[in-house]
Amino acid sequence: MSHNLLKGKKGIIFGALDSSSIAWKVALKCVEHGAEIILTNAPIALRMGSISELSKLCNAKVVPADATSVSDLEKLFKIAKKEFNGKIDFILHSIGMSLNVRKKREYTDLNYDFLMKGLDVSAVSFHKMLQIAYKLNIINDYGSVIALSYIAAQRTFPDYNDMAENKSYLESIARSFGYHYGKRNKVRVNTISQSPTFTTAGKGVVGFDAFFEYANKISPMGNASSDDCAKYCVSLFSDYTRMVTMQNLFHDGGFSKTGVSQDVIDMFKSSI
Ligand SMILES: NC(=O)c1ccc[n+]([C@@H]2O[C@H](COP(=O)([O-])OP(=O)(O)OC[C@H]3O[C@@H](n4cnc5c(N)ncnc54)[C@H](O)[C@@H]3O)[C@@H](O)[C@H]2O)c1
Repeated sequence: MSHNLLKGKKGIIFGALDSSSIAWKVALKCVEHGAEIILTNAPIALRMGSISELSKLCNAKVVPADATSVSDLEKLFKIAKKEFNGKIDFILHSIGMSLNVRKKREYTDLNYDFLMKGLDVSAVSFHKMLQIAYKLNIINDYGSVIALSYIAAQRTFPDYNDMAENKSYLESIARSFGYHYGKRNKVRVNTISQSPTFTTAGKGVVGFDAFFEYANKISPMGNASSDDCAKYCVSLFSDYTRMVTMQNLFHDGGFSKTGVSQDVIDMFKSSI
């Protein structure tokens, strides 16, 4: 049910690849709540994925942009300004990639060229988009910028590999840029730390099925779905959260605050 929480607002959604992508769900939910959006992804993802389908559903223009390319991002923001006839109100950064994970390099045997590429795509790209938006002054006062993170930024999950460092860096950018953007334009910058979710990026993590089930059993409310994540994003893009900034917000059914659950204890009891 829509309450038009984003009526009159305009935004850019990065990272919808296919219908399993978290960004796909966020795009649909934003439009359901009255927003106008532009969709963007890396040129190769636009060729491989199914974003044109989403573009039709959302009545949204698709603009290719490699999020690591300053010139692509500048072009994208200028197109958005023209398309919307003015400034934007929100941005979703839903981008992650580790070449070490893709190439199955162990954390104790990282390739540093891969590491630098993954850091650029997964984290530095967030600084790039914020810096360009700031310099072009493209976001309205009280606008909202969100990036998606994972709890491996705070706690160790061995198979998450160098994505753990990428997420720590990403969350730090939200705090640091949140200060400057808050001071100048009252623009909010936050990260959402989402439960494991079955998507192309998620399934790339070794042992993802077991990982997903474990989190589901630990979390008192179970894992948060991508649909729920989309609703949370809408609330953070809306005017109801205008003073929330520089936060890493756990959206995980309680996982981050739970030591152990009765479900997991019972599993061990039955195997003893
Ligand atoms: N799936 C999970 O379990 C989970 C949990 C917590 C956080 N996250 C985070 O959510 C975000 C979205 O991932 P997802 O799970 O929806 O997977 P996904 O594979 O659908 O999305 C990742 C996106 O990143 C895009 N991308 C990669 N390189 C890019 C580049 N150079 N420029 C622009 N875009 C680029 C891909 O094309 C893709 O659309 C990521 O930051 C991910 O780390 C995912």
